[in-house]
Amino acid sequence: MGFRKDFLWGGATAANQCEGGYDKDGRGLANVDVVPIGKDRFPVISGQKKMFEFDDEHFYPAKEAIDMYTHYKEDIALFAEMGFKTYRLSIAWSRIFPKGDETEPNEEGLKFYEDMFKECKKHGIEPLVTITHFDCPMHLVEKYGAWRSRELVGFYENLCNVIFKRYKGLVKYWLTFNEINMILHAPFMGAGLYFEEGDDVEQIKFQAAHHELVASAIATKIAHEVDPENQVGCMLAAGAYYPYSPKPEDVWASRSDDRENYFFIDVQSRGEYPAYALKEMERKGIEIKMEEGDKELLKAHTVDFISFSYYSSRVSTTDPELLEQTEGNIFASVKNPYLEASEWGWQIDPLGLRITMNDIYDRYQKPLFIVENGLGAVDTPDENGYVEDDYRIDYLAAHVQAMRDAVDEDGVDLLGYTTWGCIDLVSAGTGEMKKRYGFIYVDRDNEGNGTLKRSKKKSFDWYKKVIETNGEDLSN
Ligand code: BG6
Repeated sequence: MGFRKDFLWGGATAANQCEGGYDKDGRGLANVDVVPIGKDRFPVISGQKKMFEFDDEHFYPAKEAIDMYTHYKEDIALFAEMGFKTYRLSIAWSRIFPKGDETEPNEEGLKFYEDMFKECKKHGIEPLVTITHFDCPMHLVEKYGAWRSRELVGFYENLCNVIFKRYKGLVKYWLTFNEINMILHAPFMGAGLYFEEGDDVEQIKFQAAHHELVASAIATKIAHEVDPENQVGCMLAAGAYYPYSPKPEDVWASRSDDRENYFFIDVQSRGEYPAYALKEMERKGIEIKMEEGDKELLKAHTVDFISFSYYSSRVSTTDPELLEQTEGNIFASVKNPYLEASEWGWQIDPLGLRITMNDIYDRYQKPLFIVENGLGAVDTPDENGYVEDDYRIDYLAAHVQAMRDAVDEDGVDLLGYTTWGCIDLVSAGTGEMKKRYGFIYVDRDNEGNGTLKRSKKKSFDWYKKVIETNGEDLSN
């Protein structure tokens, strides 16, 4: 048994966290560029604090990131050396449409990704492309209020038309929106949403989510029309919620928390708003404005596979004292007393991956793709940039084993696995470089110092062996 013969092993990155070159070759400014590192980051990514322009007091890590914009050949060659079958990357919308609402794309931006995909193909690597990984052109944020406006659907459709045609034959696997449920948890980072005083935040978030869901269905439709070979997936920030105790109220809380996230995938995979979500919106007084034909679009153009990120399971409770602990986190979760946690407090739970895979597979019965998983940790390199990252190897080995159990023991159909941040990059949550996930160390720190030199960590050779043996040999 084991993983399928054509299992897609690889790694994942996002444009805004690795490319840099924020103003190169006609690229426009995006929401993800103006998010600083430091204490203002959370208020900004959650849409509570307005910082639409750069200032001198803050450092903006996405501006240069790890400069993959100029290092991509070297980086892809390293991925190839590990034996990657696939590389998940995202397109920066504002490279292709700098403002977002133009009719003609920016040729230099299009060419950049074409070269990148060709470079992947040259090494036998299948690109897996996220159309939007948290980014939205700033012009669309300022002029239209980003995804709160229906007009974004049309602009996104233009983007899709252009990229599906241009990259036909080069790209086959597409994801429409990275972690689409992030719109509820970090609405500015996830969807360019900023809230003024007096705004009906819930109404705006769910209306914007509807726009993204319709845009996702349209993207799926165009992808299939342009090339029937195209495979389109949705993407969920996953991680099963456990009840803190067997108290029925805690169990119910965990179900409700799960549903809050599954809602998006229910629409993208089953093609309609689930009854529980309609009831919840009714209770909250949320009214989704739908246009004629929206329901039919959602129903007719569901995704081919379900992709998700998994870092940790989560815990739900109704205990007010415990609930207090969860404030200020992107995803609310109480500490699980049975689990160890990373240096950033992310609880480590490989069995939780198997549970999550089973939950999702039972629910949708479509092939799964794990497109993010990994350990963010502080690495200490020697003078050659070599890191003995046994902690990362242990984390990944345990998760690959759990995913193998889900395949072998439970019969889950899994297409592939791309670890997050296969090369060190900027953290989305904190903006730090110090929170590293990679097999490849990049010499750069939180303040932007460093040579940007790439070097292999111990996990580089370990992952190479895992891929070579199709996941049979996980030993360190
Ligand atoms: C996911 C995102 O939420 O988790 C990535 O899709 C992100 O963009 C990753 O980087 C890890 O989170 P963080 O905050 O450690 O970068």
